[in-house]
Amino acid sequence: MKPQGTKRLETDRLILRRFVIEDAEDMYQNWTSDPEVTKYLTWPTHSSLDVTKAVLEDWLPKYEDDNYYNWAIEYKETGKVIGSISVVKLNDIVDSADIGYCMSRALWGNGIMPEALTAVINFLFDEVGLNRIAAYHDANNPKSGRVMDKAGMRLEGVWRQAGKNNQGICDEVWHSIIKSDRLKK
Ligand SMILES: CC(C)(COP(=O)(O)OP(=O)(O)OC[C@H]1O[C@@H](n2cnc3c(N)ncnc32)[C@H](O)[C@@H]1OP(=O)(O)O)[C@@H](O)C(=O)NCCC(=O)NCCS
Repeated sequence: MKPQGTKRLETDRLILRRFVIEDAEDMYQNWTSDPEVTKYLTWPTHSSLDVTKAVLEDWLPKYEDDNYYNWAIEYKETGKVIGSISVVKLNDIVDSADIGYCMSRALWGNGIMPEALTAVINFLFDEVGLNRIAAYHDANNPKSGRVMDKAGMRLEGVWRQAGKNNQGICDEVWHSIIKSDRLKK
């Protein structure tokens, strides 16, 4: 593994970059205050802009760590930050990462998160040198599984009642891609 830190990535419609404190308002407006976005997430809906600012203040110093990967998703068309995608767990023994993401409800259904996830997968394989990238979703949140499918991950299985989120205890549906899967396409 060659730790790179949160490097700027670019796709057709998106810029993936480090968060800055000025992103707090876009974050709050676009996703952290929306209970539909946080429905299947592990953190509570933000009750005020100050909560979002405090979260950002916690994140920003972590960018000094080259094993910290947490991107703001900027939508080129509007210049707004519309979501986030991050490595929630890194395992340097087997060179693997687990990914999490969320974004503004106003833009759901446009294939934006699959575009972001594909860029992150390519970066983690090609530049960081990982071998396995995985993610899970609540069994009641299959739209997140569609994102994983579209980014080339495949279904691994279900961990029954293994997780807890804002809906309570849930079944976790795991997907993954390993580096050699890409050669099989
Ligand atoms: C999951 C999420 C990231 C999907 O991002 P996206 O950019 O909308 O992804 P896509 O456009 O590929 O849509 C994925 C699926 O969402 C569903 N979907 C699309 N538009 C939708 C809408 N307006 N409302 C509800 N669901 C919708 C569809 O099932 C779609 O699959 P399909 O293309 O096969 O029909 C987004 O819905 C989100 O942020 N959800 C809340 C946070 C979350 O659940 N994060 C994942 C935790 S594991």
